[in-house]
Amino acid sequence: MNKSYFIETYGCQMNVADSELISGLLSSEGYNKTSDIHAADIIFVNTCAIREHAEDKVHSRLGFYNQLKQKKPETIIGILGCMAQNLKEDILESKPFVDIILGPDSYRKLPEMINNRSNKIDHIVDTKLSRYEVYDNLFPSRNEGINAWISIMRGCDKFCTFCIVPFTRGRERSRSIDSIVSEAVQAVSDGFHEITLLGQNVNSYNHQGQKFHELLDEVAQINGLKRIRYTSPHPQDMTQEVLDVMRKHQKICNYVHLPLQAGNDRILKRMNRTYKKLEFISLVKRIRETLPNVGLSTDIIVGFPGESKIEFNDTLDVMEKVHFDSAYTFKYSSRPGTKASEFEDLVAEDEKQSRLEMVIEMQKKHTLSQNKKRVGSIEMILVEKESKRSTNHWAGRTDSNRWVIFEKNNSQIGDLVSVKITNAKGITLHGENINTKKMEAA
Ligand code: SAH
Ligand code: SF4
Ligand code: F3S
Repeated sequence: MNKSYFIETYGCQMNVADSELISGLLSSEGYNKTSDIHAADIIFVNTCAIREHAEDKVHSRLGFYNQLKQKKPETIIGILGCMAQNLKEDILESKPFVDIILGPDSYRKLPEMINNRSNKIDHIVDTKLSRYEVYDNLFPSRNEGINAWISIMRGCDKFCTFCIVPFTRGRERSRSIDSIVSEAVQAVSDGFHEITLLGQNVNSYNHQGQKFHELLDEVAQINGLKRIRYTSPHPQDMTQEVLDVMRKHQKICNYVHLPLQAGNDRILKRMNRTYKKLEFISLVKRIRETLPNVGLSTDIIVGFPGESKIEFNDTLDVMEKVHFDSAYTFKYSSRPGTKASEFEDLVAEDEKQSRLEMVIEMQKKHTLSQNKKRVGSIEMILVEKESKRSTNHWAGRTDSNRWVIFEKNNSQIGDLVSVKITNAKGITLHGENINTKKMEAA
C-alpha cells in the first residue's frame, strides 16, 4: 500500500505555498495525503523561524510527534522549511527522533530522502541554499478555497538587521513571467478565482530585466481570473510603474501591504530599512493619490534594540499621520545570526509589552475609523466562505482587503457580489447584498 503523509504548516504564505508544492511532488510520487496525524506513515512540519515564539510552537509540536513515534516507531518525521535551515545542528543533537531535515531549497530531494530513510540509512539532512531553485516545473496540490498562492520569487537580499529570512531562504531569485502566467492560467482552469503572487520581497521581482509591474500587467490579462493580490512588497521597490499598473487593471486589488517596522530615522537606519520617516509618509501619499480608497496595511516592530521612548513615539506619529487600515504588530525578537542580535542595548520586556499595547490600541481606533468611512458605499465582494456567526451569511473581502459579512441570497462561493456597506463593527464590515452577479471584473 502507498505510504500516507501528514503535513502541518507554520509561518508565512510562502510556507503555505511551499507545502502545496511538497504535496504536489509527493502525490506525483504516489504518496497519499491524510488529515489524520495518527494514521500517517510520515509526518512533516513546515517551520518558521521569524520570531522566537514561532520556533517555540514548533518545538512543542515536536514533543507530540515524539510521543506518536514512540507508539509507532516506523513513523518518519521530517522538519522542513526555515527552522530546518536555521537550527539543523540543534535539532540533530537534541531531537534524535527526527528523520529528515530539509531546508526551503531542497524539497525536490524529498522522495529520495523518504526512500533512504525507509531503508534505515542514517538521518537525512539537506539545507544547502540554491541561487537558482524556483521549483519552476513542480505542480502544487492546492488547498481548497477561492485563492491560489503562486510563488514568483524566492529569498531576500535586503538584510534588514532584525530578520532571519535572508539566512533561511537565501538569495533573491525570480521565476520567468511565462512560467508564472502558465501556472496562473492552470489555477484559473482548476476553478480558483483569485491569485496571490508571493515573495518575501515581491516587488523586487526581476527576471532577466523584467520587473514586477510587467509581470502584474501580464497576469492581469488572464481571462476568467477575477482578482490578483500580492504580498509582501518592500517600500523601497514600490515604483510608480507598479502603482500605475494597479490603477490600470481593475482586477488587481486596490490594496497595498506596506511594512513600516518603525517610524524613527535612527532606528530605521539601524534596521537597515533604507527609507526615512518622511519618505515613507510621502510614499503613502503617492499611493493614495494614484489609488484612491486603497486599503493600506503594515507591519510594526516595537522595542528594537536601542529604541528609546521618544524614538518609539515616531512610530505612533507615522500611524497617526497615515491611518493604516490594519497592522500586524510584533515585539522585537532577537534572532541569533542576525546583525541586530549583536546589539546590546535591549529594550526591557515589560517596556516592549507596553509599547505593543499602545500600537494595538491605536490601530484598533484607526481600523474602526477607516472602516466607518466605507459605510454607505457600494463594494464588490468576492464571496469566500460562510460567516462564522450565521449559516445565512457569507464572508468575503472588498478588493481593498476589508472583510464584509452579508446575507447569502442566491450567491455562491466565488461570485462577485455588489454589497452596500451598512455598518462597521470592530474589524469587520456588515452589508446588504444588493444583487448577485456571476461576472468577471472587467
Ligand atoms: N518580507 C516582508 C516580511 C517578512 S516577515 C517584509 O519585508 O515586509 C514579516 C514581519 O515579521 C516583518 O515585516 C516584521 O515586522 C516581522 N519580523 C521580522 N523579524 C522579526 C523579529 N526579529 N522580531 C520581531 N518581528 C520580526
Ligand atoms: Fe526580512 Fe527585510 Fe527581507 Fe522582509 S525585506 S524578508 S524584513 S530582510
Ligand atoms: Fe517564517 Fe520563513 Fe516565512 S522564517 S515568515 S516561514 S520565510
